[in-house]
Amino acid sequence: MPTTSCSTAKLLEVAKTENDRIANLVRQLTGLYNSTSAPSYTDINFVISEALVPIQGELIESGIQVKRTLDSELPRIFVSTDNVKRVLYNLFLNAKDATSNGGRLNITTQLSTSDDIGLAKDKFILIEMGDTGKGIMPAEIAQIFTPFYSTKENGVGLGLWISKRIIEDIGGQILVRSVAGQGSTFTIALPIER
Ligand SMILES: Nc1ncnc2c1ncn2[C@@H]1O[C@H](COP(=O)(O)OP(=O)(O)OP(=O)(O)O)[C@@H](O)[C@H]1O
Ligand SMILES: [Mg+2]
Repeated sequence: MPTTSCSTAKLLEVAKTENDRIANLVRQLTGLYNSTSAPSYTDINFVISEALVPIQGELIESGIQVKRTLDSELPRIFVSTDNVKRVLYNLFLNAKDATSNGGRLNITTQLSTSDDIGLAKDKFILIEMGDTGKGIMPAEIAQIFTPFYSTKENGVGLGLWISKRIIEDIGGQILVRSVAGQGSTFTIALPIER
C-alpha cells in the first residue's frame, strides 16, 4: 500500500539519521574519555598535516580545495598531539559540512603579531581556518560552543564544546568570526610558553 510504504521509508530515514547521530555521539564521547598522548614539544604544522589525513578524501570528494600557508619557523609547543589533532579534526569536519562543491578551506599558521585579537606579540601560535561555507548567523554565534547545540540533522553538538575545553585547558583561546552566506574563520591561539 502506498501509504504504508511511504511511512516505512520515512521510518527508515529517521532510523538512519538517529543511527548517524548515535555514531557521532559515540565518536565524540570516545575521544573525550580516551587517554590521550602525554604533552611533548610539538610541531603544530605537522599536527595539522596529520589531522587532515583522515578527512582529505572526503574534502576532495566534496570538491573543497584546501590551501595551507604554514609558517615554517614556528617554535615547538608543549601540548598533547592527540588533543590538538582532535580539535583540528572537529574544525575540519565542520568546515566540510558547511562548504559546498567548489568551496575553499584556507589554513594558516603564524605567530601572534599585533594586539588585534588582544594577544601579545610573539606569545602565541595562531592557527586560522577559514572556509567559504554557509557562515553562521550573528544570533547563532553565541550558541555554537554550547553543548548539544547543533543545526545538523545528525549532529550531536559536542564538537566545538569539546574543542573549546581542550584549547582553554592548555591556556589557549578559540575564536570565531563569520559572515552568513560567505564563510567562517576559526582562530586557535596556543600559548608558546606556560
Ligand atoms: N565552519 C562552520 N560553518 C558554519 N557553521 C558552523 C561551522 N562550525 C560550526 N558551525 C555551527 O555550529 C554548530 C555546532 O558545531 P559542533 O561542531 O559543536 O556540533 P555539530 O557539528 O553540529 O555536531 P558534532 O558534535 O558531530 O560535531 C553546528 O551545528 C553548526 O550550526
Ligand atoms: Mg562538529
